[in-house]
Amino acid sequence: MDRLSIHGGVPLQGEVEISGAKNAALPILCAALLTADPLRLHNVPDLKDIATALRLLKQLGVESARDNAQRVEICAQTVSSLEAPYDLVKTMRASILVLGPLLARFGEARVSLPGGCAIGQRPVDQHISGLEALGAEISIEHGYVIAKAKRLRGAVIRTDMVTVTGTENLMMAATLAEGTTVLENAAREPEVVDLANLLIKMGARITGHGSDRIVIEGVPALHGAEHTVIADRIEAGSFLCAVAATGGEIRLTHVAPDTMGATLSKLAQAGLTLALGSDWITAQMKRRPKAVDVRTHEYPGFATDMQAQVMALNTLAEGTGIVVETIFENRFMHVQELIRLGADIEIDGHTAVVRGVVGLSGATVMATDLRASASLVIAGLAASGQTVVERIYHLDRGYSHMERKLSQLGAQIERLTA
Ligand code: EPU
Repeated sequence: MDRLSIHGGVPLQGEVEISGAKNAALPILCAALLTADPLRLHNVPDLKDIATALRLLKQLGVESARDNAQRVEICAQTVSSLEAPYDLVKTMRASILVLGPLLARFGEARVSLPGGCAIGQRPVDQHISGLEALGAEISIEHGYVIAKAKRLRGAVIRTDMVTVTGTENLMMAATLAEGTTVLENAAREPEVVDLANLLIKMGARITGHGSDRIVIEGVPALHGAEHTVIADRIEAGSFLCAVAATGGEIRLTHVAPDTMGATLSKLAQAGLTLALGSDWITAQMKRRPKAVDVRTHEYPGFATDMQAQVMALNTLAEGTGIVVETIFENRFMHVQELIRLGADIEIDGHTAVVRGVVGLSGATVMATDLRASASLVIAGLAASGQTVVERIYHLDRGYSHMERKLSQLGAQIERLTA
């Protein structure tokens, strides 16, 4: 299993290009199932999760080709299977995103239930009840969601909580339903908006995306389209946390600062000096970070996907930062590992109290999930001596060539393949 070896304490310096957003690209690839025509996609990040999504779609009969320039051409002209099997769904929960499109276009789908995962239970009940409201008959048999509907019918759906992939699944399904669907309490994440923008290019009639009320007027069929995936705001935020922890000055390119408001304002509060353009950010850190309090929230609040990275920064800050996780019930697994690097953190339920220490000291730590891995890399970059981050397959799921990009910024980091 690959590990990362980091010799910390080197300020980051230089320029780095941010990749396309994983959580936008995944639903967008699944949207290919909605049409027999090809989609031409740009800025698709080179990630393990994208490879998994393409593998799943291939099993369904979807043809795709990708090149080294982040372009993917994908076509679901002939779909030979309507089943997403357990062995793929268990490795990537986002596989549930094939459910809505398959059901809407083919009237049938079998998708394995994802089961729990490291950061929480993460049920898919809202996806299921939303599709039922659109007229689908759904049963759970042998661990599979089995959904059937001759043609979905538009409905008003109010999800019990804000769910990102739930909103995406229902929005995709509703594009081909008969009549109008209203999604209330919809997710407002930029990734949902990016998917809506692609669907509109494919001929869907959608308004209100980006607000908590999305209206979709169903159409009989969608067609092919060309689309560029938005920049990954979480990858960008992770690099900013890294420079805030190590000191130095970096410039991010191909980034979308307008999707990063909550992260940018917290990092500015922590002492990072920021300058923004429409697609670039420069960030300079000359001082010890100041502790910041964060409470995770749906967009436009502070993203749960940035919680672990800002926690890593708080471990080194002047003062005490209170971090409250409100979205997932078990997303503090990085805490024990940060403590192994010398952090002073106490957890009480959904709250972590992080008392800043003057320095961290390198150690061997274990990554437990994607964003936890990023937080350990950030801590390792700032710690004295060597940090080895084990189980970085988690990191490879969602960060494109992170060690290469960090090396480019002067970090002493290398991948050890064993
Ligand atoms: N929930 C339910 N029932 C449902 C759906 C959600 O109870 O049917 C609960 C979840 O258990 C959670 C909350 O609602 O407590 C919000 O979950 P949501 O459905 O929004 O999460 P998701 O769609 O499964 C996406 C991202 C996650 C990100 C969350 C929150 C993708 C592929 N994944 O997950 O990204 O943390 O939204 O913003 O878009 C990551 O990239 O590291 C990652 C985990």
